[in-house]
Amino acid sequence: MLARLKIPLIQAPMLGATAEAITIAVSQAGGLGSFAAAGSSPQQITQACAVIRAATDAPFAVNIFVLEAANPDGESVRAAMELLAPWRKRFGLPAQAVPNQWAPDTRAQLAAIIEAAPPAASFTFGCLKPEEIAALKERGTFVIGTATTVTEAKAWQDAGADAICAQGIEAGGHRGTFLADMRASMIGTVALVRTIRVAIDLPVIAAGGVSDGESIAAALMLGADAVQVGTAFLLADEAITPAPYRRAILEAGDDPTRLTRVVSGRFARGIDTQFMREMEQHEARIPPYPVQNALTAELRAAAARADDTDVMSLWAGQSVKLVREDSAQAITERLWRDAQAVMRAKTTRFAASPAVRSHGRRPGASGMRASRPGSGPGSFE
Ligand SMILES: Cc1cc2nc3c(=O)[nH]c(=O)nc-3n(C[C@H](O)[C@H](O)[C@H](O)COP(=O)(O)O)c2cc1C
Repeated sequence: MLARLKIPLIQAPMLGATAEAITIAVSQAGGLGSFAAAGSSPQQITQACAVIRAATDAPFAVNIFVLEAANPDGESVRAAMELLAPWRKRFGLPAQAVPNQWAPDTRAQLAAIIEAAPPAASFTFGCLKPEEIAALKERGTFVIGTATTVTEAKAWQDAGADAICAQGIEAGGHRGTFLADMRASMIGTVALVRTIRVAIDLPVIAAGGVSDGESIAAALMLGADAVQVGTAFLLADEAITPAPYRRAILEAGDDPTRLTRVVSGRFARGIDTQFMREMEQHEARIPPYPVQNALTAELRAAAARADDTDVMSLWAGQSVKLVREDSAQAITERLWRDAQAVMRAKTTRFAASPAVRSHGRRPGASGMRASRPGSGPGSFE
């Protein structure tokens, strides 16, 4: 699947920022568009696949979160609601009611994906069971599992996945971490792609901070088979990124993002907001995802309506300053053209230069031991 793409670039599924139109545009441009279905009902998933298929014969992916049913205790929910009460007042929202549902039912969504049989499906926040992966593959769906550690990549490999999306700490949005402690899983894209590459035999997709030609070329040189690009598409014409969110991206200062778990209960990276900063003192009292996510949903929607970026979630990666406005097709084509130019230029500059001589005795350096290739000082001739 990855080798057959004209452009080895996957448009990252981004819940709240992407829908059918961008998926279609990137797939038509020769990359792999991804439909973010984590917030969709099974019927909506079926319908989205039909809409995308009607628009293009090119391959596309559908993405959901792998979640177990949440069953929080009443006391922790009440405590979390108390912390949110002053923020709700700011937008004139009434006293909060306990939501009917904490998150969509993963298994019902998965059944709809298996039935719709999209060319590819990607998953984050957890690992599917081997029989679920087998059911997807039987329908011809290429299965991509998100990993933030080598251990998670091995879990996906053991369960039968076709490829691993290696999500580095630079990435915008939620961390996909599901096995180790979140803080032990904060690995940069360079180290993560390399260590997964040498540990397992599956194709690896590099995600996190890959936002321009240079970083795409670098990821491919690291051994990635493809890249997954999220943040660089946030200002695409076809993205559904709300207007205040777009403005916050355009106005972001240097180093504008941070990791937080106060918005949703799961670590995620976004542009720094007043809500993140002020709620961080209460981090220990924030319930885990999806409970906090459900409790803040109404508040975040009210903030977006009020054009208040201090309370909205503005998920974005560390390379957000590289984002440019354009059509999704133009972004896809520019990223790939630039990556090809970088690879050509580096090949001309470095691969064609003579090999480093670092063996044996250097003239006049009596008594020095020969250095191992690649480990000692060398010089370009
Ligand atoms: C706004 C936003 C929403 C995201 N939503 C999802 C999602 O629904 N599913 C998913 O697997 N990943 C999601 N991600 C993470 C991306 O798949 C990917 O790992 C990340 O965007 C790559 O890093 P980059 O943002 O530096 O390009 C989201 C990222 C962003 C920025």
